Amino acid sequence: MTFCFYFRKEIMKTSLKSVAKSNLDPSDETVEVISITHWTDSLFSFQLKRPKSFRFKSGEFVLIGLRDTTETLILRAYSIASPSWDDALLFYSISVKDGPLTSILSKINPGDRVILKRKPTGTLVLDALRRGKRLFLFATGTGIAPFASIIRDPMIYENFDHIILTHTCRMKRDLAFGELVLELRKKDILLRDLDIKKLKYFPTLTREKFVNTGRITSLISSGQFFRDAGIGDFSYATDKAMVCGSMEFNKEMASILKGKGMKEGSISSPGDFVLERAFVG
Ligand code: A2P
Repeated sequence: MTFCFYFRKEIMKTSLKSVAKSNLDPSDETVEVISITHWTDSLFSFQLKRPKSFRFKSGEFVLIGLRDTTETLILRAYSIASPSWDDALLFYSISVKDGPLTSILSKINPGDRVILKRKPTGTLVLDALRRGKRLFLFATGTGIAPFASIIRDPMIYENFDHIILTHTCRMKRDLAFGELVLELRKKDILLRDLDIKKLKYFPTLTREKFVNTGRITSLISSGQFFRDAGIGDFSYATDKAMVCGSMEFNKEMASILKGKGMKEGSISSPGDFVLERAFVG
């Protein structure tokens, strides 16, 4: 049996580095690519057709993959960037030069097929947080993906009085995907009767002049974040937070939030904040 039908010929020609061999579970399936958008040289998003029986919670991630020319299965975790009610599955990715999966995935075309594992999971879900008044969503880079899902989910507008989404990127162009999703919300029928203006967006750039400049971690530590966003300092009693970025970013944010008396949560033991690594590679 050949797996070459997953990709068009030009993609199959791409050479790949070594990756672990693995077998496909019979319950996994290939799904059709609907569209792909290149935001910058290294950032792209793509939409897959959602299988009818595929269920997930906004904020979860799933394994996506393909087979290379040697029939090796390459799988990587991707946060689903579309909300749980949407017909399509949206993903946002960095393209790593020579990255076993992303270097090929960035070349997919509508009509190609990729493998979608059937078990979405993750901790960036409302079930892992206790009830609160303000919800902070802290992202760097492609860590915006799970929040792109969450901010289009009616649940957050029903459960929180204020939502603050921060996105730290290097350059202005890196904000484009997040900005599009914020726009999409305005047309979401499920959000029509909800107050989506309760979400405050706080983008910040580290390598280009901008209205907010610097890493969010530094802006929080100096207090500038609260002043510039026009909000009060963290309150462990009423604030909840989700964090998605690099390992180092997650660690620093966890330390900041713990320093404010907030406790890390999980689905089995809901808390005040939850972390997930932004997946790359
Ligand atoms: P910086 O430019 O100072 O490294 P990347 O493109 O490397 O994924 O990073 C995305 C954004 O996240 C960049 O603006 C980067 O800032 C920022 N960043 C990286 N590490 C941290 C961290 N530990 N704390 C806060 N921001 C970070």
